[in-house]
Amino acid sequence: MIRIDNITRTYGSGDIEVNALANVSLEIQENEFVAVMGTSGSGKSTLMNILGCLDTPTSGEYLLSGQSIKEIDDENLSKIRNEKIGFIFQTFHLLPRLTALQNVTLPLRYSEIEAHEAELRGKELLDKVGLSDRAHHKPFEMSGGQRQRVAIARALVNKPKVIFADEPTGNLDSKTSYEIMDLLCQLHKQGQTIVMVTHEEDIAAYADRTIRMKDGKVLEEKLCLSA
Ligand SMILES: Nc1ncnc2c1ncn2[C@@H]1O[C@H](COP(=O)(O)OP(=O)(O)O)[C@@H](O)[C@H]1O
Ligand SMILES: [Mg+2]
Repeated sequence: MIRIDNITRTYGSGDIEVNALANVSLEIQENEFVAVMGTSGSGKSTLMNILGCLDTPTSGEYLLSGQSIKEIDDENLSKIRNEKIGFIFQTFHLLPRLTALQNVTLPLRYSEIEAHEAELRGKELLDKVGLSDRAHHKPFEMSGGQRQRVAIARALVNKPKVIFADEPTGNLDSKTSYEIMDLLCQLHKQGQTIVMVTHEEDIAAYADRTIRMKDGKVLEEKLCLSA
């Protein structure tokens, strides 16, 4: 479903040039749950931003569902982002003035789905992440784990082909982290493709496969036997 060939992403120029990614190639199949690991500065977020069409590579090829990203203009790229990709971030990225339900249905505002149907789908998803009783609460009235559940429901609202999660448990305590990972595993078992960045071994162990990065390169890829 995802294939990148020889992707390089360079920041800055001249003396301060940094290759955040250097000739990275990899494939991600449909229904896979992949963990991207590596120390801080190894290029994990840069990779996720490129895979998630939030950033474009300096050079190299990216095929998403067989379609080359190079040939797509900005408008269509944001369309792909909205329709095919769900994002989960370490700091949740919820809008503080909106309720849980409004946060979840926000991406549907740019689609043709009617408000009533959007609300139904939002409620269904809040139910799925175990928050049916929090639909009208605002983020500040919820715990970190609950906020991340709202963010997961929002990521699912457009039925994305793939979910990209950048350190989804990075701001959560261990117990809450495991609860969030159990939820992501459940989604994976239902067929959701997930690519997750983490620097924690016990979190990466939930995935089928680990891609380990160092200095902008893929150091090794390993199947997880425990998954
Ligand atoms: N916007 C940017 N401008 C300049 N350098 C950047 C930028 N984003 C990332 N980098 C550099 O690229 C490298 C990889 O960063 P990043 O992908 O954020 O790593 P990670 O997520 O693994 O911590 C680092 O050396 C970082 O300093
Ligand atoms: Mg990062």
